[in-house]
Amino acid sequence: MADYTIKVRRFQPESGEGPYWEEFNVDLDPSLSVLDGLLQAKDRDDGSLAVRCSCRAAICGSCGMKVNGQSTLGCKTQIGEAQEQADKMVGAAGVSAAVADSPIRGEGSDLGSAGNPIVIEPMGNMPVIKDLITDMESTHWTKIRRVTPWLLPHGEPPEREYVVEPESMIDITQSMACIQCGACVSSCLSMEADPGFIGPAALAKAYRFVGDPRDAETHERLHDLADDPHGIYDCTHCFSCIDACPKGVAPMDQIMRLRRKAGEEGIEDPNAGHDHEIAFVKVIEKKGLLDEALLVQESYAPGIKGKLKPSKRGLTETIKSLPTILRPLRKRKVKLRQAIPGLHHGLPKEAMGDVKSIYAHAEEHSEELNLYIRGEEGDDAQPDGAAAEEVTND
Ligand code: SF4
Ligand code: SF4
Ligand code: FES
Repeated sequence: MADYTIKVRRFQPESGEGPYWEEFNVDLDPSLSVLDGLLQAKDRDDGSLAVRCSCRAAICGSCGMKVNGQSTLGCKTQIGEAQEQADKMVGAAGVSAAVADSPIRGEGSDLGSAGNPIVIEPMGNMPVIKDLITDMESTHWTKIRRVTPWLLPHGEPPEREYVVEPESMIDITQSMACIQCGACVSSCLSMEADPGFIGPAALAKAYRFVGDPRDAETHERLHDLADDPHGIYDCTHCFSCIDACPKGVAPMDQIMRLRRKAGEEGIEDPNAGHDHEIAFVKVIEKKGLLDEALLVQESYAPGIKGKLKPSKRGLTETIKSLPTILRPLRKRKVKLRQAIPGLHHGLPKEAMGDVKSIYAHAEEHSEELNLYIRGEEGDDAQPDGAAAEEVTND
């Protein structure tokens, strides 16, 4: 047994007061969970402490919360590990700045805890209903429904069930592991900037059906998600959802797969997201460094430097982006040569050899970086957890 202080962000709407922090002292075996600590505090000190939970085994997805600023499941986070993390984070800006600003109640720290308080908050990007309980309907479930989370097969249904080859389901087993806890939504930086973003959990769910060989509306789904200004091209590759997900779903990877499939289907999106990705690859291949001005040009008007005639849309979009270019120029954050496409320097010649060999290797070996399926085309190896038996939709 060891003593811990947990510092919980509380909000009791019926009191009419704003949120505040409360400290509780708990004594638990270090291998028990942060959720166990909360339930002990609720049992011994304050029965009004509200926390949502059910299975206590990382299965039901109920106990999403932030522990030391990181979105996770309370029942999957060992309190001993959370303590080590809290001790490392002292003085760091990792935990919510609100910790320092909001009033603190309780006497946890005075009761002789061995370390620094473990900071526990409700999930982010969602309205708080009470203490650690958030409203998942408005931000999570509404978005899940947005992606039509059921199969859309065509034709007469089979007499018994759809039978598919196990290999054809391997690609979606990772997205099928989702337990809808909302931890990825809580940590999503794009959603913070654009609450309308469909978000990591719903897009991972969308891939579950886009990649399903039984679904007959793949193109329509991809079109819909690419056309939506809050869709697949609204993700900024920040990796937060991958870090937060307790089940290894890696939502960002599923979003990249949706983008790749949309590109393969030739879907032109209004955000020029697909062209932007191609431009990114081209610019790095050419210069080894990111030339942002060239990136804008290549994303909207490839070939403007005389090789090809730029499209009308390309020119319009480039002109529209001028204020974005002029602002940092005026504030002297960017030099003129950095704002003119093609004038930004690249890597020295010797280093460009390495860049080119990385591109050649990737093309030759069909590699998908950061994706669940690793290895090369033709490998027999299957990812962990891949279905070995026939898969049905029962
Ligand atoms: S990678 Fe994309 S979806 Fe995931 S948290 Fe970052 S912005 Fe959100
Ligand atoms: S993708 Fe992961 S983090 Fe997001 S809801 Fe599903 S299980 Fe939770
Ligand atoms: S209580 Fe079920 S996932 Fe934590």
